[in-house]
Amino acid sequence: MATIRLGDTAPNFTAESSIGKIDFYEFLGDSWGILFSHPADFTPVCTTELGMAAKFKDEFDKRNVKMLALSVDGTESHKEWIKDINETQNTEVNFPIIADEDKHVSTLYDMIHPKADDNLTVRSVYIIAPDKTVKLIITYPASTGRNFYELLRVIDSLQLTAYHKVATPANWEHGQDVVVVPSIPTEEAKELFTAGVDEIKPYLRMTPDPTS
Ligand code: BEZ
Repeated sequence: MATIRLGDTAPNFTAESSIGKIDFYEFLGDSWGILFSHPADFTPVCTTELGMAAKFKDEFDKRNVKMLALSVDGTESHKEWIKDINETQNTEVNFPIIADEDKHVSTLYDMIHPKADDNLTVRSVYIIAPDKTVKLIITYPASTGRNFYELLRVIDSLQLTAYHKVATPANWEHGQDVVVVPSIPTEEAKELFTAGVDEIKPYLRMTPDPTS
């Protein structure tokens, strides 16, 4: 098992899924990607998570992000469970779920943390840029369902900071003021960010979100 770190190239894989065989890179194409594991099919927290993920698909689509879930159960189990998710969460699961029965993807992505559970994946999240670099890794315990608003918020920040010389402050949300990156001198920042730069400290310069 190789450790994957931010900035690494996300390893490719092929795997069975609820919609058939998937080659990860082909599936992603030129899009951003979110790969997230959950411990097991027919479990309560996972059921709410995948239902919520399905409801958020439009928001991921708007940001050009392809969603891919994973657990170590098989495709038949996934298909039966998807019926339950659709029924109980009042939605339609609209993204594939990898059936990682031989655990090769979970191992590749270090999604099994043996001291938490020997056999099941924890709730890992990987966000991958169009050039296949890993931009975010978060690991939640099995007992905590993920916050999909937070995942969208991070994607908004990643996409903004990929194209503009800014960073986003604590609790930032799309449209709010952003931080000028430290490598740009204030005089240069004033030329670059025509909406204005507020120099609170020489190292703390704020400017309106350049995309809003
Ligand atoms: C759940 O998804 O409900 C769950 C899975 C494993 C452990 C605890 C909760």
